[in-house]
Amino acid sequence: MARLVIKNGRIVDPSQNLDRVCDVAIEDGVVREMAEGIAGSGAETFDASGLVVAPGFIDMHVHLREPGFEQAETIESGSRAAAAGGFTSICCMPNTHPVNDNPEITQYICDRARHFALVNIYPIGAITKNSLGTELADIEGMKRTGAVAISDDGKPVMNARVAQRAMEAAASLDLPLIEHCEDLDLSDGGLMHEGARSKDLGLRGIPRSSEDVMVARDIILAEVTGARYHVAHLSSKYSVEMVAFAKRRGLKVTAEATPHHFVLADSDVPPGGCNHKMKPPLREGGDVSAVKRGISSGAIDAIATDHAPHSEAEKRESFERCPFGIIGLETALGLALEQLYHAGAVTLQQLIRLFTWGPATILSLDRGTLRPGAAADVTVFALDDEWTYDVNRSASKSRNTPFDGRKFRGGPVATVVAGEIIWRRE
Ligand code: DOR
Ligand code: ZN
Repeated sequence: MARLVIKNGRIVDPSQNLDRVCDVAIEDGVVREMAEGIAGSGAETFDASGLVVAPGFIDMHVHLREPGFEQAETIESGSRAAAAGGFTSICCMPNTHPVNDNPEITQYICDRARHFALVNIYPIGAITKNSLGTELADIEGMKRTGAVAISDDGKPVMNARVAQRAMEAAASLDLPLIEHCEDLDLSDGGLMHEGARSKDLGLRGIPRSSEDVMVARDIILAEVTGARYHVAHLSSKYSVEMVAFAKRRGLKVTAEATPHHFVLADSDVPPGGCNHKMKPPLREGGDVSAVKRGISSGAIDAIATDHAPHSEAEKRESFERCPFGIIGLETALGLALEQLYHAGAVTLQQLIRLFTWGPATILSLDRGTLRPGAAADVTVFALDDEWTYDVNRSASKSRNTPFDGRKFRGGPVATVVAGEIIWRRE
């Protein structure tokens, strides 16, 4: 029997409203008990004195690029970056090549994950065939094969009739539908947020309204269909308000925010800064504050990275030509501690819930908890240790981050999946 005892950590588990210093005993990949002074004889022990011990973090929005774009990331390299960021489970978006729009691709991803991934991989299936927004994909087949949600992420479902039918299908299968909220007619080839900064830089803008219009439409459709509807990478102040409104109405509407959208604004975009180019774009200071307020108030349910690796060659292009997206798995916790916890915007319980019980609930995963009997996925992290992010030592195959060289206060120390320490800080 494989045994691991994590000693003397501060266990913080929002699923049980728990915050106490004690030991956690793990046997054969499962949490056995939580108590003081558990005997470590015959077991591997990990001294977590002075550290926080939380349920394993879940990132519900990751791009792994396999199959099709393995030069930017693979299931293996992405899972290593996840482990180094404290994540024990990640969900992979379907915008691979081919698109994950049928059970064969879903199965392929699950098979590769079983062989090569260090962390749990949950595929997200496409809403429409080839994510073209016209014909519904084989949603039921993908669900049967392991898809935990559907999304055409990278693109919205532009046609409202198709979106409504997709929500009906999602509702009948009890799967959440995750929307990339962008009205393409309004964003119309824009490159960054439309505002003073885009004017200064002479770049075509993406107005906030392109996001807001889609969030509004979808909330209406979520009410009509009864679907579980989730807003991906929410970035606009009005969208935060609309999600809060939908929750007050009792709709099954949830939302996630990325670290970059609560840390950076459009004013931070340097000329030619491809590592500040993503969708949705970095918005204005008022949006950044609104996203943070949405996180503190509970309007936003999860922190997700939208880890979007792109090769160095692609990101060396001009701002106009380089692809949208930045990596984020390894910096998410450090940024959340800095901007949310140390800044006093959230409690430690809230912070951990956003990385664990929040996403687990949205996706109905049997994870995100340290209850006895649960899978022993654990994230051990420091609140105060200082460290500096060096992207050249990243486990990701890509380097596209605006946070290289950033100093952090607190971050991941060890990552445990099914009772095995799969990563520890050097
Ligand atoms: O910045 C982004 N990159 N936003 C998306 O929605 C897609 C993603 C990607 O796949 O690169
Ligand atoms: Zn994405």
